[in-house]
Amino acid sequence: MKKMLGLAVGLSAALLFPSHLGVQANEPEKNHQKIDIVAHRGASGYAPENTIAAFDLAVKMKSDYIEIDVQRTKDGKLVLIHDTTVDRTTDGTGKVGDLTYKEIRRLDAGSWMSEKFKGEKVPTFEEVLKRYKGKVGILIELKSPELYPGIEEEVAELLKAYHLDKPRNEKVIVQSFNFNSMKRADQLLPRMPIGVLINRSADTTDAAIEQFSAYAEYYNPSYGLITEELVTKAHEEGMKVQSWTARSKETVQFLLQMKVDGIITDYPDYVR
Ligand code: G3P
Ligand code: CA
Repeated sequence: MKKMLGLAVGLSAALLFPSHLGVQANEPEKNHQKIDIVAHRGASGYAPENTIAAFDLAVKMKSDYIEIDVQRTKDGKLVLIHDTTVDRTTDGTGKVGDLTYKEIRRLDAGSWMSEKFKGEKVPTFEEVLKRYKGKVGILIELKSPELYPGIEEEVAELLKAYHLDKPRNEKVIVQSFNFNSMKRADQLLPRMPIGVLINRSADTTDAAIEQFSAYAEYYNPSYGLITEELVTKAHEEGMKVQSWTARSKETVQFLLQMKVDGIITDYPDYVR
């Protein structure tokens, strides 16, 4: 465990539930589980992923966070798109890193899902920080950062420019499957929560979890790896758990039972 997360949780519990009143800190948990609803690539079950339409809908559905995937164009602009090519989610073709911002911005990022979304654009990272700062939490995934050397520095610079790198802004998190990238992000943004995305059982051992806790505040596994023991272990190491990607009500129910802290879902309304 590092940074302020554990301390903040401990302090607020002590203030809210003083022992001399005979109230135990864990009592309200019995009936009321506070879960963060994280709209995966926006409310992507209903609107095209990683577009303003999907993010606006996520806010309308009262999500706690929007999750976004950050990559970089050929000419150095940070843009939001999941795949490393534009082929699946736009009307263009080619690698994100081989196209200029102007070329990517011309593409239609909505019609592939429905004519209703024709004209949606690939947003920039900065545009989304500006639009949603203070309105909703932002779970920022650095997608394939190994393809974009120095992207951690660029993301950190923009977060600093928008004053989103401070502990009071807990609702902005940087995460990745690339652990070295997250160690670097932790050095650059020492006061910000960092998350590790987990998709291999090799990264669920006690030893692995202890190592992650040296630089991460969020331990975020695929739901197929989740057990109550795993969640407890991550909590013991001072990390929160947000699990992905819930696309059915059954999966949401399972994750609630496992007592995760956040559910990353294409359907934010399934959690409520
Ligand atoms: O936030 C978790 C999730 O986004 C990780 O997987 O492939 O959807 O980016 P992916
Ligand atoms: Ca993602």
